[in-house]
Amino acid sequence: MPQLRPAVTRRHAPNHASMNGESSSSAAKKAGAASDAPPGYELPWVEKYRPRFLDEIVGNSETVERLKIIAKDGNMPHVIISGMPGIGKTTSILCLAHELLGSAYKEAVLELNASDERGIDVVRNRIKGFAQKKVTLPPGRQKIVILDEADSMTGGAQQALRRTMEIYSSTTRFAFACNQSNKIIEPLQSRCAILRYARLTDQQLLKRLMEICEAEKVQYSDEGLAALIFSAEGDMRQAVNNLQSTVAGFGFVNGDNVFKVVDSPHPVAVQAMIKACYDGRIDQALETLRELWYLGSPSIYGSVAEWMWGRLLTAGMRDKGYSAVDLISTMFRVTKTIDTISEHSKLEFIKEIGFTHMRVLEGVGTHLQLQGCIARLCRINMRKPT
Ligand SMILES: Nc1ncnc2c1ncn2[C@@H]1O[C@H](COP(=O)(O)OP(=O)(O)O)[C@@H](O)[C@H]1O
Ligand SMILES: [Mg+2]
Repeated sequence: MPQLRPAVTRRHAPNHASMNGESSSSAAKKAGAASDAPPGYELPWVEKYRPRFLDEIVGNSETVERLKIIAKDGNMPHVIISGMPGIGKTTSILCLAHELLGSAYKEAVLELNASDERGIDVVRNRIKGFAQKKVTLPPGRQKIVILDEADSMTGGAQQALRRTMEIYSSTTRFAFACNQSNKIIEPLQSRCAILRYARLTDQQLLKRLMEICEAEKVQYSDEGLAALIFSAEGDMRQAVNNLQSTVAGFGFVNGDNVFKVVDSPHPVAVQAMIKACYDGRIDQALETLRELWYLGSPSIYGSVAEWMWGRLLTAGMRDKGYSAVDLISTMFRVTKTIDTISEHSKLEFIKEIGFTHMRVLEGVGTHLQLQGCIARLCRINMRKPT
């Protein structure tokens, strides 16, 4: 694994160190000097530790290998990179463009993302204008149009790209990044090589987080890192952002602090609830659910209030608790990982939680809905022949 680079203040540093044959120490000095400039200001770590070379991208190694070959040989095909957010799609395209074009990056790359206007006029004017522009490039290299978050482009704009892509393909290549490749119209898909990125594994997230912790001298506990990984669900951007927020808010990364920052139910509490269901201790399971639902309100107060004033009073107290969707999806993810529950019960639990999730998504995300789910989970083991 290559070393993390020192602070990079600009993502699109036009003088890419590797292409200019610049020594890494002088690149480091330059980056260091730049990051010293505004006192008291710190870049978000997601930007600071955004990989600058394809080599540094974590995960999806087969696909990244293909990109590396393209970076080496030139002649980039039109590509679509698709996958969930925060796994390195934009970064890969930027690295690829930098490695292909080096110091010509600024002139030879047109970068448009969701924050830019990308309607049909932009395709007709800006993209076409860029495609017609003459730029002197090393042999075998083409200009690159990067269309980030391409799935949010209108159908009309995508249609208008078809001809442009064909007519200028000898001088201009297109790279799309999107969350869902099916939102890209078929004719564009058929012109492109489609690369799918998978979510990152826990080990990959862990390794990267530990490297960042080391570089930033972060104090952490193992359980803190586990919490970051649990809450990120394979999304590196979220993991790194949550790490930085936890450090900024608490100075120490442990499980409790992380779950306060990400504001999601603590899996330990949820696990206790599921285990209580497994053992048939329904009172305890409902009590834990109540605590999560009314977070911090004394249970007796909660139950009296609920009983006497119904929604009038409890609605105000509810402000602090977790939403039904958060609770049910954490229940699902926790249940998957509990070892002490038998395989059969686990499947039954997941089925029941799945049905409740469906009802919650349909709009019935009430306390009663979750209480019903808990009751059904408790019943599962009662039915089991002994
Ligand atoms: N595979 C990865 N390797 C290393 N860092 C990553 C990776 N994926 C995402 N990151 C981190 O998350 C940030 C956002 O990544 P980005 O490529 O913009 O994600 P997206 O897939 O949503 O386009 C990057 O700046 C980087 O810090
Ligand atoms: Mg992106």
